[in-house]
Amino acid sequence: MSRILVTSALPYINGIKHLGNLVGSQLPSDAYARFMRARGNEVMFICATDEHGTPAELAAAKAGKPVADFCEDMWQVQKDIADGFRLSFDFFGRSSSERNRDLTQHLAGKLAENGLIEEVSEKQVYSHADGRYLPDRYIEGTCPNCGSENARGDQCENCTKQLDPTDLINPRSAISGSTDLEVRETKHLYLKQSKMRDKLDKWIDSQKGWPILTTSIAKKWLHDGDGLRDRGITRDLDWGVPVQYDGAPWTGMEGKVFYVWFDAPIEYIAATAEWADANGLDDAAWESWWREDKGADDVKYVQFMGKDNVPFHTLSFPSTLMGSGEPWKLVDYIKSYNWLTYEGGKFSTSQGRGVFMNQALEIMPSDYWRWWLLSNAPESSDSDFTWASFQGGVNKDLADVLGNFVSRVTKFCRSKFGEVVPEGGAYGKAEAAVVAEIGKRLTAYQDHMEAIEIRKATAELRAIWVAGNEYLQATAPWSVYKTDPDAAAAMVRFALNLIPLYAVLSEPFIPDASAKMLVSMGAEGAAWPTDLSAALEALPAGHAFTVPDVLFAKITDDRRVELEEQFAGQG
Ligand code: 2FM
Ligand code: ZN
Repeated sequence: MSRILVTSALPYINGIKHLGNLVGSQLPSDAYARFMRARGNEVMFICATDEHGTPAELAAAKAGKPVADFCEDMWQVQKDIADGFRLSFDFFGRSSSERNRDLTQHLAGKLAENGLIEEVSEKQVYSHADGRYLPDRYIEGTCPNCGSENARGDQCENCTKQLDPTDLINPRSAISGSTDLEVRETKHLYLKQSKMRDKLDKWIDSQKGWPILTTSIAKKWLHDGDGLRDRGITRDLDWGVPVQYDGAPWTGMEGKVFYVWFDAPIEYIAATAEWADANGLDDAAWESWWREDKGADDVKYVQFMGKDNVPFHTLSFPSTLMGSGEPWKLVDYIKSYNWLTYEGGKFSTSQGRGVFMNQALEIMPSDYWRWWLLSNAPESSDSDFTWASFQGGVNKDLADVLGNFVSRVTKFCRSKFGEVVPEGGAYGKAEAAVVAEIGKRLTAYQDHMEAIEIRKATAELRAIWVAGNEYLQATAPWSVYKTDPDAAAAMVRFALNLIPLYAVLSEPFIPDASAKMLVSMGAEGAAWPTDLSAALEALPAGHAFTVPDVLFAKITDDRRVELEEQFAGQG
């Protein structure tokens, strides 16, 4: 048994996420956490909302709510959606928690003690009309690079160039539209990441078997131009973790907060502390996951994220933890994902193009989404969501293969032998062949899950379902029954025993269907198989079951067309 710490990138609080966000971190991390639990490991699976920064403040202003209230409400919305998708977090925290405030301030203090923080005088735009500084997205204007008139202070969306607020031509406040702006000098804290370059380089080189996507991005940022330049970790905002020196005032930094990307990853740790608090446990409970001096030396830590998050997790966050000089647990494996596109284009929040998490749950049960998204996860390249592909995955894999198998064997048994497992003779060659085939596939499935090759794992799982269907097709117990009911009974007994096995193996992907299958077979306690032949004898003759309701409903062509139109967007 191992101890496995799993974190999913934290979704921003500012709005409901789309399916691309879901498949890029939360969903694969959930399948992995479920698999690892099912194999008997001790798992700590953590996520939280990422609540600070200008996007949260602006979204709150748009919603007409104080930012703290907005975040509280949106946390609940995101939590409910996560529950709807059956994301099995051990804790879903908030980066605005007291735990994160304390830990962020503590780590900043340690970094300062170790000479890794420097005060830098910066030019910032001050708005007289708004009575405040305008960092990042609070300021808009003309892009000096492409001339777009809607560039933001941190980036031009049109040409993607990263900008500073002072780069903008004809700047205006995004809050009031005022152009009565003034550039003022103000002091900010910079994290001297460049001092960490050699350490980070060695650390990344020492990692074995990280995905190419992860290491290539990390290396590029480490060695290219301004990738690892010292970065400002403070902002002139009200909402955020106040800049303090390990909890005490930090001279000259009054009224400032830490930059959202400084405190967000620290929330992985803080959320584990929130978990301990929520469960009435002491600090030792969460420290055993995060402090190498307190038991975390035997923890395997795996992070999941979209590829845009890789630089922050391979360079910035490790700089914070290593630079503190304290024995914090560093990540062992970073699984990163490419993009999911929507019908050949981008998902777009502003144009209402694509499917958002709340909408998805209103249309179809979560298992349908989980299966399609995970079996098409953008692991080696981008993948494209199309309604036709989704319809195909649901109808073929779930309804025709798994659902049909379960329905056929349980209904046939009920009609000939009643709702109990029939006796029949011993299993023969045909059954041994299925056991051999499933055994081979199961080994591959487990290996792929261990290696976090989720998409490949789903292909093996599908093949395991197919083996059952092909067995029924080849042995045809409904024909055999006419001349040899005893032989047919043994076949049915074997096929019925496949159902709890399928339920257990499918649980990381389709937990609701899995639970239904186990309940209908009266096999709720079924565990991951260690001996396949024994697992296929688990339901003895005479064991009662009930025929389950339809596990998966097919998506008709008419319905598909309707959905295509509904989500096409306005743009
Ligand atoms: O890109 C994003 O959606 C960020 N909110 C991810 C943060 S991950 C972690 F570092 F907090
Ligand atoms: Zn531009």
